[in-house]
Amino acid sequence: MTGIFNKYLCLVFVKLGGIFELSTFVVPLAYNRLLTLNTDLVEQLSCAHLDMIADRLSTDGYLLLPNALPKSLLSALQQRVQSLAPENWRSAGVGRAQQYQVNQQIRSDKIHWINATNEAEAIFLSLMDQLRQGLNQRLYMGLFDYESHFSIYQSGDFYQKHIDALKGRSNRVLSTVLYLNTDWQAADAGELLLYAQDGEQILAKVAPNYGTLLIFLSEQFPHQVLAANRDRYSIAGWFRVNNNRSGIVDPTR
Ligand code: OGA
Ligand code: MN
Repeated sequence: MTGIFNKYLCLVFVKLGGIFELSTFVVPLAYNRLLTLNTDLVEQLSCAHLDMIADRLSTDGYLLLPNALPKSLLSALQQRVQSLAPENWRSAGVGRAQQYQVNQQIRSDKIHWINATNEAEAIFLSLMDQLRQGLNQRLYMGLFDYESHFSIYQSGDFYQKHIDALKGRSNRVLSTVLYLNTDWQAADAGELLLYAQDGEQILAKVAPNYGTLLIFLSEQFPHQVLAANRDRYSIAGWFRVNNNRSGIVDPTR
């Protein structure tokens, strides 16, 4: 009950924070859906969690949350990703819009873009929207939207060292990676290496353990995915700022 109270208190702040954003009004509706899946969800993004995430982002620029999401949502997402048929996956590419191209020397994973037509995906997106609003309120990041995809790295797949902010009008400012692999063993490899801005010093070696959420500033942290020895599932996502100018829509992908 306290959790629910905190949550609504949090929302009041979001509203007071100004801007009658549509999403502010959509969130309470989303709670009803969240609640049908697991009441714990209401506890997950309390003001305290958001304060902690904002603090760590402003001091270190990245953080790792080993148990960020409720179990019921994780298992719904895991079932969803494992139920995707081969035709639902496409080879991942690099670059966006006209520059988009598949280059298997750089990355060899396959992806499936997330959208709200699937229930588990919709709940994930609404939780990430709470995070977006909570961070905007605390850090004035001006996060405007969030795009994300499931990834599968099959045995031997990798993603070479890269930066998530796309070339040109860089608009990806905050990256998230959520892992959906139960019983991941050290011998399974497939870690994400997070580098300091110099691209040399390794700051973290992240095993793709079930429920781990990594959050980092997109422009500051080169990273790479080492080849795994079994199928490896993740959800990579990016909060973007709005770079639309004079009626020209900045493409998401
Ligand atoms: C990405 C990425 C990391 C991972 O898709 O940009 O860095 O561990 N993914 O899936
Ligand atoms: Mn990346």
